[in-house]
Amino acid sequence: MKKTKAGSKLKPRASKVLEIRVPRLRVDASTGVPEVESCATRIPEGYEDIVSGVVATPAQIRRRIHDLGRALQRDFGKNEWVVVALLNGSVLFVADLIRELEGPLILDFIGVSSYGGGTESGKLVYTKELKFEVTGRRVLVVDDILDTGRTLTAVIRKLKDLGAREVRTCVLLDKPARRQVKQVADYVGFTIPDWFVVGYGLDYAERYRHLPFIGVLRPEVVAETARGTAR
Ligand code: PRP
Repeated sequence: MKKTKAGSKLKPRASKVLEIRVPRLRVDASTGVPEVESCATRIPEGYEDIVSGVVATPAQIRRRIHDLGRALQRDFGKNEWVVVALLNGSVLFVADLIRELEGPLILDFIGVSSYGGGTESGKLVYTKELKFEVTGRRVLVVDDILDTGRTLTAVIRKLKDLGAREVRTCVLLDKPARRQVKQVADYVGFTIPDWFVVGYGLDYAERYRHLPFIGVLRPEVVAETARGTAR
């Protein structure tokens, strides 16, 4: 145990175990997208009350984003793209994704929200508009999850209405079982079953975005949040 100059003992920081028993993935032969078949049930220390399973570990997320970056860079070539990230969920993803790209690129954000604090999709509300002109430009929309598809569909329409020359889409997670409108993403990190997931940008009632991994939210948390007792 370390001692300070004054001789008082410092308690070592509790280390969080994050890489134990990884979720099982199956790579789709036609698309190359890894599909999460089962989540790991050993939960990183300190997160047991929040999630019941781990969908993607920090290392899996890192590796997949590296691969996505290579695919994007290959397809983009030397053209300049406006990367439009959808607030708030995509912040962690876009920050890591653009560091895998050589560019040239411009980063901008659209604030759009659909869940209204619960687990079901609600009305789509724009909370922030673009800062840059996209007229005549190539745009890559980046989002954390493609769920019902309503958000991505609306944003693509908006960007086309603004005169974008080309719009492509990249999402970290795709949940095809929840789709309500016909919408696909051009680049997908992982396909997942119909689990309510949090972490790495994804929230429940604005919480848990900071988790360094993606996990399945415990149903008890929903009840505790309603009672105001969730941590
Ligand atoms: C979530 C998520 C996507 C959208 C996907 O955003 O970040 O943008 O929902 O859902 P959909 O495919 O059913 O439209 P949310 O509205 O919760 O806002 P947030 O990004 O601030 O979490």
